[in-house]
Amino acid sequence: MNNDIEKVLYSEEDIAAACKRLGDQLTEDYKDKTPLIICVLKGAILFMTDVIRDMDIYAEIDFIDVSSYNGGTASSGTIRLLKDLDTDVAGRDILLVEDIIDTGRTLKYLEDLLKDRQANSIKVCTLMDKPSGRVVEAKADYVGFNVPSEFVVGYGLDYEEKYRNLPYVGVLKPSVYSDK
Ligand code: PRP
Ligand code: MN
Ligand code: MG
Repeated sequence: MNNDIEKVLYSEEDIAAACKRLGDQLTEDYKDKTPLIICVLKGAILFMTDVIRDMDIYAEIDFIDVSSYNGGTASSGTIRLLKDLDTDVAGRDILLVEDIIDTGRTLKYLEDLLKDRQANSIKVCTLMDKPSGRVVEAKADYVGFNVPSEFVVGYGLDYEEKYRNLPYVGVLKPSVYSDK
């Protein structure tokens, strides 16, 4: 699997440092609240489990699964709700945790859903932001890295559902796509 990677964009150490920086900021910003931290499956799973360990606050966690990519490298444009939350979000302070914001469609869908359900506040923490990919307006409050317009995998992010378990974020060799 590691052999399929052309270059590492963010190493384990880079990611750990980003989690610490964001965790410290979130600890400060949420010290008087008990937010509901929502992990957007599946991509955000590694980042969420790391960044919450850097947050010294009372918090609850939940999971939601929406999908737009259907496994490939391009967003399909249609968001589907695959797994709903268990928690009632009405009146809650929500921290959405994402691995990456690209077109912004996923985030827009989730923010609309949470507003509709009367959340008290909604903030967004993403490991990576790819502003060059935006199709709809979407903004993160906490960003680990601004990424170039490359297709990245690892640390939760997949290509055809694989590579999520790489401990770093990298770019695949072109041969991985062309061999198909
Ligand atoms: C990816 C990624 C974000 C979203 C970002 O998820 O994890 O959730 O797409 O893209 P967007 O800004 O263009 O909407 P995906 O739908 O591929 O599901 P996954 O997390 O299960 O891989
Ligand atoms: Mn995702
Ligand atoms: Mg995906």
